[in-house]
Amino acid sequence: MADLVVVEQLVKAYRLGDESIRALVGVDLSVEKGRFVAIMGASGSGKTTLLHLIGGLDLPDSGRVTIAGEDLHRMSDERRTLFRRRRMGIVFQAYNLLPTISAVDNVMLPLLVDGQSAGRARERAVEKLRLVHLDHRLSHRPNALSGGEQQRVAIARSLMNNPDLILADEPTGNLDPTSSEEIWQLLRSLSRDTGATIIMVTHEPSAAAYADVVHVLKAGRFTGTIQPEGTGDATLVATRYAQLAN
Ligand SMILES: Nc1ncnc2c1ncn2[C@@H]1O[C@H](COP(=O)(O)OP(=O)(O)O)[C@@H](O)[C@H]1O
Ligand SMILES: [Mg+2]
Repeated sequence: MADLVVVEQLVKAYRLGDESIRALVGVDLSVEKGRFVAIMGASGSGKTTLLHLIGGLDLPDSGRVTIAGEDLHRMSDERRTLFRRRRMGIVFQAYNLLPTISAVDNVMLPLLVDGQSAGRARERAVEKLRLVHLDHRLSHRPNALSGGEQQRVAIARSLMNNPDLILADEPTGNLDPTSSEEIWQLLRSLSRDTGATIIMVTHEPSAAAYADVVHVLKAGRFTGTIQPEGTGDATLVATRYAQLAN
């Protein structure tokens, strides 16, 4: 199958006073359309940096990110923003929901921002909340939802533009094991049922085990891959990870 995402020789350093912190030192990655890919590494290994570069939220020092054949960082800022809004969904560890409005209103936002009618946005939002099994929580505000439910709302929001690519940064980092398991199963079934390509970064073997393939990131470069094939076999991932990360 064709590659949806191609990352070539990506380099990124952060300047902090006189110091330069090398977050990515030359990362290559190809993700086939429809795959569920995990990027696994310890805290500080460069996971968020890489995900932000793939999402066009930050600029690399050098290297290239191509999505569906388009060079993300050679677009104008405006076009990149539109590209991201229309073709990607992003899920963050901290959910990033607006606290003062209901679940359905939060999920509607991407279409409203895109200038579509409230009626159409609401209809689509209800459909997406049904997909994440939350159609009984439409009018709840975020603080009246559990952490797992809030993350499901955020996932529904990420699906609003029927994205080709879903990016998730430690989506279960704030959740208990049971809620985490539900989120992993949900991502797995979205991958199967919607054909969306998913890139999830995580430090947890139990999360990565739900992906088709796991790329191990260490100190800003990939050290190898693991093929759990979506089995949820956390022991396999933990064992292989220990070899690749040390
Ligand atoms: N805005 C920033 N300014 C300076 N250093 C940063 C910044 N963001 C990340 N870093 C550093 O870059 C490295 C990679 O960070 P990050 O991509 O957040 O890793 P991870 O998500 O795997 O924990 C770390 O050493 C981190 O401290
Ligand atoms: Mg991070």
